[in-house]
Amino acid sequence: MKPLEGTNVIAAKSDGSAGCGGNCNCASSDSMEATDLTGAIQERYSKVAVRGASSGSADGCCGSGASDSSCCGSSATLYDQSQVDAITPEAAGASAGCGNPVGISDVKPGEVVVDLGSGGGIDCFLAAKVAGSSGHVYGVDMTNEMVKLARENAERLDAQNVTFLLGRIEAVPLPDSSADLVISNCVIALAPDKQQVFDEIMRVLKPGGRFVVADVVSTREVPDDVKQDMAEWVACIGGADLQSRYISRIANTGFENVETLADVAYSGDPDGDEWRSSLRSVTIRAFKPA
Ligand SMILES: C[S@@+](CC[C@H](N)C(=O)[O-])C[C@H]1O[C@@H](n2cnc3c(N)ncnc32)[C@H](O)[C@@H]1O
Repeated sequence: MKPLEGTNVIAAKSDGSAGCGGNCNCASSDSMEATDLTGAIQERYSKVAVRGASSGSADGCCGSGASDSSCCGSSATLYDQSQVDAITPEAAGASAGCGNPVGISDVKPGEVVVDLGSGGGIDCFLAAKVAGSSGHVYGVDMTNEMVKLARENAERLDAQNVTFLLGRIEAVPLPDSSADLVISNCVIALAPDKQQVFDEIMRVLKPGGRFVVADVVSTREVPDDVKQDMAEWVACIGGADLQSRYISRIANTGFENVETLADVAYSGDPDGDEWRSSLRSVTIRAFKPA
């Protein structure tokens, strides 16, 4: 594998194998063709989108025989039944989060919400129900197949207050100070430049606005060989930041009232690698100063 420019992510395991974290237990047998991290993420999540669209299985990337090294949660475990019932089976089937940020973000009617790495749109549709016709939800994702699936889901749900944008979370295609709330579910761990992502969140939020993100972090530094393994990055593990550094980064960006709303184990010890038990799925809220 070619090194990825600007990062130290250099290799994918030849069999593409990597655990998928603790929310499910899908070992990978798919190999990756992409030679750069962005390409590998797009390749992998295209497959999650296609499988979600065709299975509509509501059990995330681990369902229906899918064997991906993706960040994989399951709508069946992360969302309550009324939330799953409110979206399409295809959106639930492509669910690949590690938390339920919208469930605890207290969306209010009329709010503008931005979901970074919106995937099949599951969190956007849930937020849009609460934001209502006076509010609007924007989903941003860099994978064509995911944006296509999300737009199809929006049509099926007749969700007119949701717009899906093809774009990167490092350069959010929305104006300054335009959002009341930014959410993200298991995506920032995939970004090599996390500071750029938090800078973008700060830029798009209105003064006094807030973000609620679910993400994978680690209480111990992820080993260097794992950081350099592209398959581990695609699985949200190689890019899991040290939890204390992640929180400091948020505070240093200028956010206030940084609060950890949820903090649960993300992985057991699937490979006998003891450090994996230090992986956490956290949900964090913070505010842009008013
Ligand atoms: C683990 S999935 C989570 C999807 C969704 N949030 C959910 O909970 O189902 C990660 C998603 O983020 C997108 N993604 C990853 N890195 C991205 C980036 N730098 N910019 C935009 N989208 C990105 C992927 O295409 C994929 O759809």
